[in-house]
Amino acid sequence: MKTYQQVVLLAFLAGGSACSQIETPEKPSTPRPELFVPEISSALQVRDFPQPSRNPLSKEGVFLGKKLFFDPNLSANGKVSCATCHQPNLAFTDGVALSTKGVSGNKLHRHSPPLFNLAWSTTGLFWDGGAIDLESLNFGPITHPDEMAADLKEIVAYLIQDKEYPLLFERAFPESPIQSATISRALAQYTRTLISQTSKYDSWKKGELTFNSQELAGYQVYQNNCTSCHKEGLFTDLKYHNNGLDETYPDPPALEGLFLGRFRISFDSLDLGAYKTPSLRNITLTAPYMHDGRFETLNEVLDHYQFGVKINHSLAPQLKGGLALSQKDRLVLLEFLKTLQDDSFIDTNSKH
Ligand code: HEC
Ligand code: HEC
Repeated sequence: MKTYQQVVLLAFLAGGSACSQIETPEKPSTPRPELFVPEISSALQVRDFPQPSRNPLSKEGVFLGKKLFFDPNLSANGKVSCATCHQPNLAFTDGVALSTKGVSGNKLHRHSPPLFNLAWSTTGLFWDGGAIDLESLNFGPITHPDEMAADLKEIVAYLIQDKEYPLLFERAFPESPIQSATISRALAQYTRTLISQTSKYDSWKKGELTFNSQELAGYQVYQNNCTSCHKEGLFTDLKYHNNGLDETYPDPPALEGLFLGRFRISFDSLDLGAYKTPSLRNITLTAPYMHDGRFETLNEVLDHYQFGVKINHSLAPQLKGGLALSQKDRLVLLEFLKTLQDDSFIDTNSKH
């Protein structure tokens, strides 16, 4: 639709009367979607909010993406939605080591990761970085037999005959029909706007409150031992490391290198057993831990870093010999990690 200024300018350029231009009947069309960029806290320590020019955020797109994310009708048996394995109250994880909640009921090979601050995950998605961006990732879970096992054509057919979806798609993507690309773009807009930046730590960083002495001491322990990988701000360096979970890695041919870590993608032997550093934000909500959910508690994770690190040639050098943590270090570190729980992020996203 032309703006008032454009109409006046056109009339002026045409040298004719403004009236004839304004009276030209225009095809009524859906208003352009309302584009926006989320506000980003300085405590995240990122410069801007990256988003692809081919899929800019709009209020309408995020709204639609959220509805799709929670809709079990996108699965073959009508029972599994994205939120089945990515539950908002658990920072979008599912509380089990390896999910059996997909359509087939088969156990997945990797733990459901939390979903937040993914806009900055520009070094790859999934534990091994096997997915390039949020737009292309969605077809994986929608069609995988052990996840939603759906047929994209059937999903499109369902959405077209639904009472609400056609209008929501028209508002979000006025130029495109309902198709797999717009489904995925909407889902990506929603997941890209899951931003966790309102924890106690964030308020502390902005000077809005003080830490008690334990939390302060814990912050020091974190800085001395964890920042090289769980970098402050996002609490991940977005890189791939072998943090010493195993000495050797099974490689059953049918699974195409699934247990080899980042090596599966890079074929670099220094990436054997390496996975993308997960964020420590909301870590109190996302147990069990690691790419296969092998540790049930944060204490078990600390036991690993202190006593359990396995040595092989791809181990991250700073972990050789384990991390030296005293009993007091461990207690205060856990107090600090609690400050990364973002209740307001959880509350906001649990309402739908
Ligand atoms: C049956 C459980 C299940 C369902 C359903 C599911 N996911 Fe996942 N999701 C996972 C697992 C497991 C992984 C990790 C896979 C890997 O690393 O190989 C994952 C990874 C992801 C990631 C990457 C996060 C990161 O930090 O790299 C995103 C984004 C994601 N899922 C979004 C979705 C969306 C959107 C849907 C719905 C269309 C969905 N998931 C449905 C289990 C599930
Ligand atoms: C050499 C880099 C490195 C260092 C140093 C490091 N981590 Fe990690 N951390 C990782 C990687 C990589 C993973 C994921 C490994 C996997 O799943 O196989 C991880 C996983 C974790 C997890 C599980 C997260 C989840 O969502 O499952 C926790 C908790 C954790 N680390 C805490 C810490 C703490 C606390 C410290 C400091 C005492 C620390 N890490 C030091 C790289 C590191």
